[in-house]
Amino acid sequence: MCFHYQNGEMYAEGVDVKRIAREVGTPFYCYSSDKLTQNYQAYREALAEFNATVCYSVKANTNLAIVSALARMGSGADVVSAGEMYVAMKAGIPADKIVFSGVGKTAAELEAAIKNQILQINAESAAEVRAINEIALRLGIKANVALRVNPDVDALTHVKITTGKKENKFGVDWDDALPLYREASKMEGVRLAGIAVHIGSQLLDAEPFRLAFAKVAAMVRELEAEGIVLDNIDLGGGLGINYNAELPLTCTAYAEVVRETLGSLHKHIIVEPGRSVVGNAGILVTEVVCTKKMGSKNFIVVDAGFNDLVRPAMYDAWHTIQPVSKKGVAPLIADIVGPICESGDVFAKDRIIEPVQAGRLLAIMCAGAYGASMSSIYNFRPLVPEVMVRGGEFCVVRKRTSYEEMLAGHSLPAWL
Ligand code: LLP
Repeated sequence: MCFHYQNGEMYAEGVDVKRIAREVGTPFYCYSSDKLTQNYQAYREALAEFNATVCYSVKANTNLAIVSALARMGSGADVVSAGEMYVAMKAGIPADKIVFSGVGKTAAELEAAIKNQILQINAESAAEVRAINEIALRLGIKANVALRVNPDVDALTHVKITTGKKENKFGVDWDDALPLYREASKMEGVRLAGIAVHIGSQLLDAEPFRLAFAKVAAMVRELEAEGIVLDNIDLGGGLGINYNAELPLTCTAYAEVVRETLGSLHKHIIVEPGRSVVGNAGILVTEVVCTKKMGSKNFIVVDAGFNDLVRPAMYDAWHTIQPVSKKGVAPLIADIVGPICESGDVFAKDRIIEPVQAGRLLAIMCAGAYGASMSSIYNFRPLVPEVMVRGGEFCVVRKRTSYEEMLAGHSLPAWL
């Protein structure tokens, strides 16, 4: 019972959401420790038969308390910038459980990763492998490298979160992978540690995973036939969650695909889930500023905007929106919109919702992943507080930024 109703009032575990709103103000993100734990443990249990490491994909939610809670449970991290690597290490994730992905790692980022001797750098181009080798030779440290291969598989998800097709910018082209492995196997600064694949996010179907993993298995065998033996197979992230009425793949069903395609290779398996670990463990709570009617259209204007949660504006994503206090009144159809001066600042169009007046609270559900981590201060709106609940207690795990903090890095040129 993570987010649930008691006598018409929404609770986050044992805490009345209204009470948090009174204490921290709106909008705010609220995370359930219990849900986070359940989601992480579901992966652990499903993958128990493998030598597997769950490397939580930090980009989904970079809050230090979230990453620390996962670190305590034994999670590793998938990072895509030196900044995320910094957070992962601050949270206590050991370097040998960190993988670094991303198409455009800078020399400085590669150097940091090599110095930290992380589990593996998922290189995405020949140029990157060569750069890693040079930096590693200069530092006198062998870098653990995997090639992120692009399997050219359609993930059957939203176009902006599809990553495993030939036309996407990600990974090494399938046909170039073997020659690049051969080249890298001769590099003095490189230890070939693994192979990596990530085909997209919010996948609901097992088939794209099966196709991609089977291709990876074939490549691993081909490499072994040439004497290139890898330790790690990194399967990326991508498991979808239920935002509306989706039927997501369970971790168990996913593990079944891993077993069928890769089980006989007996390799160290790495998975990089983000959304499926934090997505449904978080909500965004917002207050209704006003309501208005224009022609036949109802608008509910709330105090959160797309700077706080960009997913609906950016991916046409559906998030269920519920009143924090249910009155049981007959619903109406309304657009739920934010205050930002852009027409795209819409959380829900033509949504069936009970009428709510100014001052009422709404909860935007499943906002734990790619919510706070993608937020900005557009319109000079402060980053909102993040609160973590455990049982009957809650803690502010990031405070609202103040205007002074928002201006802190600004300075004026001498001529002004
Ligand atoms: N590994 C790599 C290399 C990735 O690029 C990603 C996500 C993940 C793991 C984690 O994927 P997940 O398990 O969360 O699906 N902002 C978008 C999602 C972008 C995903 C980017 N990469 C959204 O809000 O839907």
